[in-house]
Amino acid sequence: MSEKLFSVAETVVVVSGASRGIGLAIAESFAMNGAKVVITGRDHSRLAEAKERISVAPHSVTPIVCNVSQSRAVKSLVEQVLETLGQIDTLVNCAGVNLRKPALEMTEKDYDFILDVNLKGAFLLSLEVGRHMVRQKRGSQINIASLSSDRPLTNLLPYSMSKAALVQMTRGLAHEWGEHGVRVNALAPGFILTDLTRKLWSDSAMKEWAHFNTPQRRLGEPRDLIGTALFLASEASEFVTGQTLYVDGGFRAAWSWPIPAET
Ligand code: NAI
Repeated sequence: MSEKLFSVAETVVVVSGASRGIGLAIAESFAMNGAKVVITGRDHSRLAEAKERISVAPHSVTPIVCNVSQSRAVKSLVEQVLETLGQIDTLVNCAGVNLRKPALEMTEKDYDFILDVNLKGAFLLSLEVGRHMVRQKRGSQINIASLSSDRPLTNLLPYSMSKAALVQMTRGLAHEWGEHGVRVNALAPGFILTDLTRKLWSDSAMKEWAHFNTPQRRLGEPRDLIGTALFLASEASEFVTGQTLYVDGGFRAAWSWPIPAET
């Protein structure tokens, strides 16, 4: 019974930004659980490498190049998936970029770079896939949000703005598509060790700060997000939509402060 409840076997899953990091881990977990997975990213050779790294029958992983900030590329991606695999059951909007500097130093180009991928890209892909899911009367979309969806982190303002808007988009699409059987949720990771953040967390003061503020006293790894992604894609979450699930080792649960206990 519970095996079927959490099953994603034979479903078709599209993961954007799946050439590495969180997207790759999520794509791999779906493939290992019997889904047909489409991995997308900007670079053909990186996608080919990613496919190699996923240790399942090769026919279950299809790499397709797609820059999510270009509407034509997004349209073509969805057309290709429908032509070859016939349906899309789950979309994971994972492609994302960031730049770290004070707001006053951000240029228009910086702003466009971040918002074009993190927000416009996700919006374009959600709508293109959503059109199909609404017709199909079934589907689950999972948007990878952030702790900064809630409150901006220092020197990450356009990134935080994009991730806050992504949560709003999640609620809005869940609201519009609920009656059509399409669910839309966000998965907000805490501090996860990936190529995007490796340099940051190699700083011992930063690492100490993260451990101090995270009840589980560690950084996350991409595999920490797998269970929640599978849950949000499967029947187990059938009545869950418009939500943001934080997978952050408890970071948001409380505030740590270095107050000594009274003796
Ligand atoms: P990463 O840099 O390792 O992976 C990002 C992926 O997005 C790469 O595959 C990259 O090629 C792809 N990408 C970038 N621009 C693209 C575009 N225009 N079109 C298609 N693909 C594009 O980063 P990571 O850490 O795996 O992050 C994945 C997602 O998780 C991002 O949305 C990020 O904002 C989010 N996130 C990451 C956290 C972390 O601590 N690593 C925490 C919270 C959220």
